[in-house]
Amino acid sequence: MSMNDSNKLSVRDLDLFYGEKQALMKINMDIKSNKVTALIGPSGCGKSTFLRTLNRMNDLIEGVKIEGIVKVDGEDIYKNNDVIKLRTKIGMVFQKPNLFPMSIYDNVAYGPRVHGIKDKKTLDKIVEESLKGAAIWDEVKDRLKSPALGLSGGQQQRVCIARTIAMKPDVILMDEPTSALDPISTAKVEDLISELKKDYTIVIVTHNMQQAARISDETGFFLNGELIEYNNTKDIFTIPSDKRTEDYITGRFG
Ligand SMILES: Nc1ncnc2c1ncn2[C@@H]1O[C@H](COP(=O)(O)OP(=O)(O)O)[C@@H](O)[C@H]1O
Ligand SMILES: [Mg+2]
Repeated sequence: MSMNDSNKLSVRDLDLFYGEKQALMKINMDIKSNKVTALIGPSGCGKSTFLRTLNRMNDLIEGVKIEGIVKVDGEDIYKNNDVIKLRTKIGMVFQKPNLFPMSIYDNVAYGPRVHGIKDKKTLDKIVEESLKGAAIWDEVKDRLKSPALGLSGGQQQRVCIARTIAMKPDVILMDEPTSALDPISTAKVEDLISELKKDYTIVIVTHNMQQAARISDETGFFLNGELIEYNNTKDIFTIPSDKRTEDYITGRFG
């Protein structure tokens, strides 16, 4: 093990432009393995854009230019063109649950099937383990063949997490995963995130500062495309070193 094994991702001098407009400016950030890292900041400050640079989701957007380095396990993801493999290793959960109009089972088995797994016993095992891992198994085990879109929003979001887990990623990126959920579902997903960090590295965008304080180990504060401050969550919320961070967390803007 090298000294840097505790960093899963490292970002160096990352700039991102949408056409002429610069959305990320010289971001430097190391993201630790098996921790929850929260990205906070006001709307439009670049949180989602930054999250998407970590698994090259911005590649899909026309006119995007990216400069700088993003390494996962020491490997530069923009130099290696196996984007499919990258997205298997770095899964993503979106703001709104985005299950397919098919059964719960088929949603979770979808990725493994695309990757060529056909054996029913193997798929059954992956589906069960993934749903258990996402703390939704007990609620759906008797209706795996029912339409996934018949579940509540909070249940759907946990099935989305199960679908991500089924690909056995190392890292799970989450972009405001609870913003469309009621408080009870939000609490369930927050509990789940705290469980998941035993096995995964999690990076979560949230505009909810209380959520960041509750569930994250590290927090980065973004403003106007810059990473203003990045530190362990307790320090960010108790002794922020930058005046702008302090103004934001005390609710003076945002
Ligand atoms: N696809 C896009 N094309 C052009 N500009 C974009 C695109 N996506 C986001 N932006 C702009 O980039 C900035 C950062 O947006 P975003 O990353 O979505 O912020 P946040 O997630 O913090 O709300 C905003 O000014 C936004 O308007
Ligand atoms: Mg966003």
